[in-house]
Amino acid sequence: MKKMEEKILAEGKILPGGVLKVGSFLNQQIDTVFMREIGEEIAELFKDSGATKILTIEASGIPIAVSAGFAMNLPVVYAKKNKSSNISGDCYSTLVHSFTHGNKNNVIVTKEYISSDDKILIVDDFLAHGSALTGLIEICEMAGAEVVGCCAAIEKGFQLGGDRLREQGYRIESLAIVDEMTDTEIIFREQ
Ligand code: G4P
Repeated sequence: MKKMEEKILAEGKILPGGVLKVGSFLNQQIDTVFMREIGEEIAELFKDSGATKILTIEASGIPIAVSAGFAMNLPVVYAKKNKSSNISGDCYSTLVHSFTHGNKNNVIVTKEYISSDDKILIVDDFLAHGSALTGLIEICEMAGAEVVGCCAAIEKGFQLGGDRLREQGYRIESLAIVDEMTDTEIIFREQ
């Protein structure tokens, strides 16, 4: 999605530690017109996937997943993050380590919202080391649901999570892949 690259170049801010700040349109303030376009782009990419449900993780994945859900006429389920490991039996849960924030969260989904009949499209805002997507894939496996694809709004190609998941055979699409980020320049992968 060239538009995502243009948006990043126009509004993204490069922070130390390989962090790209996109709070003006994706993470804190939401550009709703742009968000609608993102949803339509995801719908186009996955129109033949057979997805029956979209799965994301709170917080910043939710608006993107909902926008895709509108465009695809699909329900959206979001995994909740929980610091405690005291999870009741009616939930699927897995531990996700965040490299960016240096913490761990239990990621939980109530069992009744994903079943072995579901074909799941996983959507998130950032794909960096791939921990969040891996956790969501694990939850789908616990439920016996099929993962038909994963879509990130922005992938940080230099952190390799996306490429590792591709090597495992998953269909991973990203609307923009940042392969290199210096203090002053962002280089995108040709797709
Ligand atoms: P991973 O899931 O791909 O392994 O990524 P990582 O652990 O490194 O990222 C953890 C959190 O940091 C995620 O948000 C992810 O979206 C966010 N993140 C990673 N890299 C960047 C970046 O360059 N810029 C921004 N803005 N965010 C980044 P989260 O903890 O789930 O937070 P939120 O969804 O509640 O906002």
